[in-house]
Amino acid sequence: MALTSYKSRTAIVYASVTGNTKQLAEMLQTAMLNRGIQVELYRIEEFPLGNLSCFNHVLIGTYTWGSGEIPAEMHELYQAIEKLDNKELKTAVFGTGDSFFAEFCGAVDRFKDMLYVKTKLIASLKVELMPQPKDVVRCEKLAELIQ
Ligand SMILES: Cc1cc2nc3c(=O)[nH]c(=O)nc-3n(C[C@H](O)[C@H](O)[C@H](O)COP(=O)(O)O)c2cc1C
Repeated sequence: MALTSYKSRTAIVYASVTGNTKQLAEMLQTAMLNRGIQVELYRIEEFPLGNLSCFNHVLIGTYTWGSGEIPAEMHELYQAIEKLDNKELKTAVFGTGDSFFAEFCGAVDRFKDMLYVKTKLIASLKVELMPQPKDVVRCEKLAELIQ
């Protein structure tokens, strides 16, 4: 009987200009590593989009641009996941935003709506600007859900 080796792959893919979402992505990575979850962290520009279907879990991190919009560099990822249409793919979406704007973390909401329909959406997380120590606990909760 052939033995099948199955290795779950998890990616965190994020976009960040001023570093807030990058920091949140790194906090999530730490929370996952602390739970023994192997995770690959990618800035969106470095993510191998063609290998999307190799991942079992994808956690998407985005800041919000314009009036509640998804930043341009995240559009390809959004469209690729939408096209993949895989309810086996477990996803989460997180982001930072500024509640000064009418649509706080609007990009997280837009991703969330699509991920809910096209994937198995596990969780979402919104953080005001720069992540604070209290957000570590929120990252730990998200990591627990992803496991
Ligand atoms: C031109 C502009 C538009 C923005 N629009 C929104 C918005 O609609 N909603 C929101 O929550 N934040 C908005 N923000 C705030 C950023 O999303 C926020 O500063 C975020 O933390 C930046 O993430 P980063 O440090 O990872 O680049 C906007 C910022 C700029 C400069």
